[in-house]
Amino acid sequence: MMQAAGIGAAVVQPLAWGAQADAERTWRAFLAWLATIPPNDNPGSLLRDYRAHVLAGGASAAEADGQIKVVMEMMRTREDGWQLIFNKIYAASNPGFSVKPNGLLMSAVEGRKPGRALDVGMGQGRNSVFLAIRGWDVTGFDVSDEGISVARKNAAAAGVAIRAVQKSNSNFDYGTAQWDLVVITYEPFPVTDQAYVQRVWNSLRVGGLLVVESFASDKGAAGRKPVDIDPGELLRAVFAADFRIVRFEDVEGVSDWSLDRTRLARMVAEKR
Ligand SMILES: C[S@@+](CC[C@H](N)C(=O)[O-])C[C@H]1O[C@@H](n2cnc3c(N)ncnc32)[C@H](O)[C@@H]1O
Repeated sequence: MMQAAGIGAAVVQPLAWGAQADAERTWRAFLAWLATIPPNDNPGSLLRDYRAHVLAGGASAAEADGQIKVVMEMMRTREDGWQLIFNKIYAASNPGFSVKPNGLLMSAVEGRKPGRALDVGMGQGRNSVFLAIRGWDVTGFDVSDEGISVARKNAAAAGVAIRAVQKSNSNFDYGTAQWDLVVITYEPFPVTDQAYVQRVWNSLRVGGLLVVESFASDKGAAGRKPVDIDPGELLRAVFAADFRIVRFEDVEGVSDWSLDRTRLARMVAEKR
């Protein structure tokens, strides 16, 4: 059908479609493999394990690397992988990540009057439970049902109430002028997109805080992880949305999620 669109289209578009179909096939194969593996508490090992699986299936090293590249690109844009990935991670018995509240968040809310907080991609609720203990009225959402179920258990064990909603970022309604605090720590979706930052800005009340901490690298850098954000891009998006920057760091530090030293972006911004 595409060939009927004219000579140029006949030459160019089938190639684009072919590449897209290949990428989709590669992604589907990765998701199918994910569904079969046991719980895995080490998010960093997933791609290495998948590469080994592809090699064991007879692919050459170059083919396996090509597939990993496609999977990493798809992870940046697709939500359907993260639910599976994080369900595997949260079902593991020994978390390979910090279960303590995020340090940047702790310092950002120190001495602040508690209000309504939104924990974006709340995971197992380490930040939600901390905020609820401090008197905040907390709503969190996450695409992972395993994460949500552990977050609810953790809140009950701490004797606090939180609203934990199983939704993806694209389906959750942030609302307008709803929150005094929006927390975004180690989220894999593109939190530096101007449209997304504007959506967060709209959802905050005047004087409300946005707290972001993430793995970081420059856009286009070699070996960039799908979970990295570009600190410059974050800064530009937050400026453009007319936040007041309270704190911004582009530093080497110990991440809450890989527990090793790596480049991190940290941001606290206030809605004027
Ligand atoms: C690295 S964890 C961070 C969890 C939590 N923010 C923390 O710092 O402990 C990333 C979380 O984002 C969730 N997530 C990923 N993509 C999502 C999406 N599109 N919508 C909602 N949650 C998502 C994952 O399920 C996972 O719980």
